[in-house]
Amino acid sequence: MPDMLESYAAWRQRREGDPFRVRIPGLGAVLFTATQEGAREVFRAPVELLEPPRPNPIEPMVGAASLILARGEQHRRERALLAPAFHRNRISVYGNTIREATRAELSGDRTGIPWLPGTRIDARAAGRALTLRVILAAVFGIDDAERRAEYTAVTTEFLESFGTTLFLLPPLRRNIFGLSGWERFSAARDRLDGLIDAEVARRRVDGGGDDLLALLLSARYEDGGVITALDLREQLRTLLVAGHETTATALVWALYRLHREPATLDRLLDELASAGSDPDPLSLMQLPYLDAVCQETLRLHPPVPIVLRRLTGDFTLRGVPLVAGDTMGISVQLLHTDPAVWPQPRRFRPERFLERRYSPFEFAPFGGGHRRCVGATLADYELRIVLATVLTGVRLRLAPHFTRFGAPLSVPHTIAVGPRAAIRFDVQP
Ligand code: HEM
Repeated sequence: MPDMLESYAAWRQRREGDPFRVRIPGLGAVLFTATQEGAREVFRAPVELLEPPRPNPIEPMVGAASLILARGEQHRRERALLAPAFHRNRISVYGNTIREATRAELSGDRTGIPWLPGTRIDARAAGRALTLRVILAAVFGIDDAERRAEYTAVTTEFLESFGTTLFLLPPLRRNIFGLSGWERFSAARDRLDGLIDAEVARRRVDGGGDDLLALLLSARYEDGGVITALDLREQLRTLLVAGHETTATALVWALYRLHREPATLDRLLDELASAGSDPDPLSLMQLPYLDAVCQETLRLHPPVPIVLRRLTGDFTLRGVPLVAGDTMGISVQLLHTDPAVWPQPRRFRPERFLERRYSPFEFAPFGGGHRRCVGATLADYELRIVLATVLTGVRLRLAPHFTRFGAPLSVPHTIAVGPRAAIRFDVQP
């Protein structure tokens, strides 16, 4: 079922055609497109005309230097520094980390309750815990239980204290004698920054590590300069925010869809069985149906449902003239359900990705152009390895409530949009 934002955008599109305008608080009337022609124009627009929209509600979380908010030359410079750390060759070293994190979650090491027959599990909480664990291991190299517990507590408080109201209503971001949500959030951010600073100081003395932090500490800008302490903090916070909820959301939806469509689950289980009892995590990247399931999930439930660009000069989007200061965007949800491209667009049918290749202007869960998601490869690895490990480790059934009704509504949470409530499964014998 489409969520409210999607329904509203679809209604505007029906009234106006493509492109169409949608009012977004703080940004005014944004000109949206949801066709491949429009997506091509947005992603191929001259880079010097584009910057991220402002004000951006997540700025307090990630900071002004964040890759997500940087523009122009600063964006190019920061991206050139960060991108090599996310290159396929680097990311592939995390295959075992991802699988071990998943096995530990199944063993109940976080909750004290192993995923044994008769247990009811909350897939949203499990997905968030798993992706947090992976991102902490990938970014800070954390693999011992004590440090993980400390980082998990501090990061979770940081991510969760920035609630939807703070996100949407900047006037609430103020101090009220230590009692406001804003103060709780600021204190949590300070604690996280304290951990980051201590870790950076330790690394500068001891060196070592093959995680993203080690790479960033040794990386150099093209002019030979090194990243400043403040920029490093903000980029690391950015990775925690951008890499956690997005992937967690996609995992939950994949499990949900597979268990609503038993034929897709059976086909995937057959393919996983053919890969052997303990396949190398990287070999999972070669499984076509697993790949199709992940793509179909990101098509129907894109965790980041809109991609926005603010213009710094004149531009024409699908014949509509725009000027400096205007914002244009792609409704990824509508692009992914355009009936001209996707027959029976609301159906979860991974086979469509085996039958045809889709262009980056038809299928864009990671955005596109010069700002395409820098963590896309890591996210792809995580989705495939976690799903395969869960599905070969346990047999699940959706709790009865979720099979009786349509898909739960999606709501914004930090940078992503995800299911409003827990999605529960019963572990089967
Ligand atoms: C399924 C998971 C994910 C989805 C669907 C997703 C989606 C997106 C989208 C749509 C954008 C905006 C692209 C644009 O404006 O064209 C983006 C940007 C970004 N993502 Fe992801 N993302 C995911 C996972 C990750 C992970 C795991 C990381 C890092 C650990 C990450 C880090 C970033 C960063 C740093 C940016 C800003 C890039 C820039 O502006 O240059 N994302 N992501």
